[in-house]
Amino acid sequence: VFDEVCETTGVTLKRFMSEVAMLNPEIAELTILFGGIETACKAISNLVKRSQLPSSETLGLEGEVNVQGEDQKKLDVITNDLLKRALRFTGKLGVLASEEEDTPVDVMPENAKRSEIVIDEGDKYVAVFDPLDGSSNVDAGIPTGTIIGIYEHDENCEIDADCVGEECTEQEAQCLANTLQPGTNLVAAAYCLYSSSTFFVLTLGSGTYGFTLDENIGEFVLSHPNMKIPENSKILSFNEANTHMWDEPLQKVVTGWKEGTGKSGESFSSRYVGSMVGDVHRTLLYGGVFGYPGDTKNPNGKLRLLYEGAPMSFIMEQAGGLSTTGTKRVMEIVPEVVHQRVPIVMGSKNDVQEVIDAYAAAG
Ligand code: AHG
Ligand code: MN
Ligand code: MN
Ligand code: MN
Repeated sequence: VFDEVCETTGVTLKRFMSEVAMLNPEIAELTILFGGIETACKAISNLVKRSQLPSSETLGLEGEVNVQGEDQKKLDVITNDLLKRALRFTGKLGVLASEEEDTPVDVMPENAKRSEIVIDEGDKYVAVFDPLDGSSNVDAGIPTGTIIGIYEHDENCEIDADCVGEECTEQEAQCLANTLQPGTNLVAAAYCLYSSSTFFVLTLGSGTYGFTLDENIGEFVLSHPNMKIPENSKILSFNEANTHMWDEPLQKVVTGWKEGTGKSGESFSSRYVGSMVGDVHRTLLYGGVFGYPGDTKNPNGKLRLLYEGAPMSFIMEQAGGLSTTGTKRVMEIVPEVVHQRVPIVMGSKNDVQEVIDAYAAAG
């Protein structure tokens, strides 16, 4: 389907999306959403670049703690509002969940103010996003990103939530908001990476496509058609300060990679920037294994399933990689609550398979 679209370079994201819509009328409305997302990514790229100027008002902390218990950066809040507005004006979105929102919100302001979720017939999609990933890095000029997942409204909740408003439990409300869907329900996922270049990488379920912002024309241009991650690798990417608290099977495999005694016999090097989007983008292009595993302090690790784990796993799998908790495929996990965390090891197929086999052998 997408091969015809990629016959030439210089294909802008707008042209890519309009040709995809012509070839696949059933997802034409989805391509409208990407218009809003593309604009938001360009705007956030500008904000991040300008945030360090002395005159900037977007520097530093907001002075609030978010639902994650993290000190919110001003840019966390600004980028969250920017994305909500950009998505709202597409008219295709009913509900969204964000790392920076305590609970799922209805994008129409009057409903959001009443903290009600009203599903209008025009609301075709649900969006989940991490507006600024790696935000603790932004004041150091280290790459940050935005992660987005798009679901269709899925009428049947996993639980029969027939409650209304306040009488709903947190889980019933979130299920009613259709935000508790597994990654296998994703119709699209994308990330923007704000780094030496500004990248936009997406999947619609038929491969992973990478675009680079050409600032001379203000357009994302197709630069990485049909990305495929190398099946073997020599780069491990973990916060190794936590190694002593990991599960034993993972400790064994990672030690083998370091010593060159693993399945591939390769001696790995280590690369970790502490922004998931930056670490995963490098992993997609160079090969490698990125992970934020569970440990004795945080059995589910740190990354959030809904707007980090599942969308990034979709992009990774569509590029031929694997993404596992060690014992389960990340995309098959049905969230119980919106901000649920999930242990993740993702990347080059054969190396991630070595981790899966080690967990299976440990029983
Ligand atoms: P966010 O900035 O959206 O809260 O996400 C930060 C995450 C992720 O980007 C990164 O991989 C991880 O935190 C790094 O955590 P550590 O600093 O504990 O290694
Ligand atoms: Mn955060
Ligand atoms: Mn994040
Ligand atoms: Mn974030």
